[in-house]
Amino acid sequence: MSLLIDVVAGARPNFMKVAPLLRELAARGGPLQGRLVHTGQHYDEGMSEVFFRQLGIPEPEVRLGAGSGTHGEQTAKILSSYERHLMGSRPRGVVVVGDVNSTLACSLAAAKLGIPVAHVEAGLRSFDRRMPEEINRVVTDAIADLLLVSEPVGLENLAREGVPKERVHFVGNLMIDSLEHSRSAARRLGMPARMGLQPGNYALVTLHRPSNVDLPERLAQVVEMLGRTSQRLPIVFPVHPRTRDRLEKGGLMGRVAGFASLKLLSTLGYEENLALMETAKFVLTDSGGIQEETSYLGVPCLTLRPNTERPITVSFGTNIVVGEDLGEAEGEIGRILEGHIKKGKPIDGWDGHAAIRAVDALETSWGKS
Ligand code: UD1
Repeated sequence: MSLLIDVVAGARPNFMKVAPLLRELAARGGPLQGRLVHTGQHYDEGMSEVFFRQLGIPEPEVRLGAGSGTHGEQTAKILSSYERHLMGSRPRGVVVVGDVNSTLACSLAAAKLGIPVAHVEAGLRSFDRRMPEEINRVVTDAIADLLLVSEPVGLENLAREGVPKERVHFVGNLMIDSLEHSRSAARRLGMPARMGLQPGNYALVTLHRPSNVDLPERLAQVVEMLGRTSQRLPIVFPVHPRTRDRLEKGGLMGRVAGFASLKLLSTLGYEENLALMETAKFVLTDSGGIQEETSYLGVPCLTLRPNTERPITVSFGTNIVVGEDLGEAEGEIGRILEGHIKKGKPIDGWDGHAAIRAVDALETSWGKS
């Protein structure tokens, strides 16, 4: 008889992590059977459904339908509806991924009911508690039973926090499994040409962190910096719903849409984004996942944040954390355009087979009732 485990996904950066895990669980037909829970933190076609189609994720068996809200509201809605679900149908364990509010809420619901939690991407720390994701990481790791780590710094951080070694497993990076799975489909799209761009001669920009987009003055400065950069090379800028909202409220939409060499787009599907990353001259971002994907692809990445919880992307990858100073960012852009390209090295465990190691770890711990 197989043992049911819940695999939780809620927001865009979760989908590419659960896809390979669910595929591996299904392919093995081993002692554990995955049940996908979608919290509904992200719900738009472009933020959720397109990833299901492109990554071959099965229809969720459980939909909590949480939607947007303040952090407290959103976390509380997911926590209480997931608790209700768990009380009705108790799984052997719950797998959560990443650092979004759904990760925190579902870990809390399970831990309080005595159901073991496994955290994929455990041990990452920005050491910046102003970021909601950092609080989500710290709390989730503190209550998780099984900590599945994607890069070596995770092992160090968890050891320092006193997590017993036997609960920690280095499995590598599940996002890279998805990237490898979709790479040829992404290439077949012929994205740069379709958008009138030359491979290797455009920048991809993605920005959605509150620290870059929530304050109108900051966002206005970012917009002007993008305008200046678009005079040096074409820019393509898929706009996250949070950023679109802030651009509209700040009266900045007309300005950003008016730059001749800057293409504003809606959020992209997984394959479209991958295709545009792969042939970009560089990517300017504040995303966590994109720092990893560009490192794997060997594409220069400039991270517009004061820190990163993924330091291997700097030490081994192609990432440069430019901080919050836009002048710094423009300086680095100038260096890239002059041909100073940061080269990366292969990263241990980022090989397209992380899901195999993750399911091995889950089976070892939970494979017997
Ligand atoms: C969330 C995550 C962040 C992750 C990001 C990726 C937390 C704390 N933050 O931030 O770590 O990098 O997702 O996208 O969990 N909205 C839509 N459609 C949707 C979802 C959201 O229009 O499908 C709008 C809503 O107006 C909402 C806003 O986007 O208020 C922000 O969404 P929310 O989930 O609160 O946070 P993100 O900024 O997306």
